[in-house]
Amino acid sequence: MSKKKLLVLTGGGDCPGLNAVIRGIYKAVKQQGDWELWGSIEAFNGLLAEPINIVKLNDENTAGIHVKGGTIIKTTNRGNPLSFPVQDENGNWIQKDVSDDLVQKIKSLGFEAVVNIGGDGSQKISQSLFEKGCPIIGVPKTIDNDLSATDLTFGFSTAVQIATDAFDKLVTTAESHHRTMIMEVMGRDAGWIALYAAIAGGAEICLIPEIPYKIENVLKAIESRYENGNGFVNIVVAEGAKEVDGDVVGTKANDEGDNHIKLGGIGNALRYKLEQLQDFAQIRTTILGHIQRGGTPIAFDRVLATSMGVKAFDMVQSKSFGKMVAFKNHQLEEVTLLSATESYNFIDKDHYLLQTARKMGVVFGD
Ligand code: F6P
Repeated sequence: MSKKKLLVLTGGGDCPGLNAVIRGIYKAVKQQGDWELWGSIEAFNGLLAEPINIVKLNDENTAGIHVKGGTIIKTTNRGNPLSFPVQDENGNWIQKDVSDDLVQKIKSLGFEAVVNIGGDGSQKISQSLFEKGCPIIGVPKTIDNDLSATDLTFGFSTAVQIATDAFDKLVTTAESHHRTMIMEVMGRDAGWIALYAAIAGGAEICLIPEIPYKIENVLKAIESRYENGNGFVNIVVAEGAKEVDGDVVGTKANDEGDNHIKLGGIGNALRYKLEQLQDFAQIRTTILGHIQRGGTPIAFDRVLATSMGVKAFDMVQSKSFGKMVAFKNHQLEEVTLLSATESYNFIDKDHYLLQTARKMGVVFGD
């Protein structure tokens, strides 16, 4: 008897743990026996490509991948089937909705279910495809931890560990030189990586998108550490942080089909501004960038990612389509894609970790 076909894909920015999800699904599929697992290369692009670019997953190509960063089936920020970049007859790039063709193709290839591992953008795409009749299930991923339907996303804890390791190194050099070190971390519009790294590392100042800062408050906090002439300061700034009445620092992406604002540069902007306002502290900036997304996932993320993969296959078997796996109170749950994409997970002003940091004297600049 021929096996039922399941398709998995990874979309949007990569993050540590994607391969552990893929392996978790594969192992569960193999164990169950009635299904076979295929991967679409570069998210939906593999399905839309001519010739089609999909790969059958097996023991060989999934062996040991749970410890590997990235994704063995690749990913892209430029694969939204609802606004897909295609060239018109004059060679100009235009955006076209190819989602109906895509859903048709998934069916004609005999796939009975699709698991889309992705962030908020990918899960919004999943919801639209579900509405068009695609039997799809979401698995949330992002280092930013900005999905409100799940307490945590895999990849986040690894990113925090990477940021904390970097922070620890910056502390010793700040101390030796009596310098002020600014470390810029990722996170888009949420300050989770910054807040966790600031608490774990012991930062004096933490600037996050949820709390616009006043430069004079940041300066005052630095000044107070230099009063005896021997101070040093370590600042964590999230890429999406901004001054009160200011704007985020970034550039528009110039890749066809990618409409994101590329955040980045607030660390240097902050440094220049502080340098103009004082001369007692030498300031240096470190931008961690994509280092936070690469490499081996820590054990916690491997476990979370693997269990989410296995749960996704459970949901395939029970036909829980239009839903996403969520980690809630240390259990895995199913939530609708619609509710999962309704709102972002921002740091609430009453969040216990924000309160923890404030009560320890961490300055947020407000
Ligand atoms: O969403 C994950 C993330 O790494 C953000 O923290 C960051 O702003 C963005 O992706 C960078 O995206 P890109 O892959 O386009 O560089």
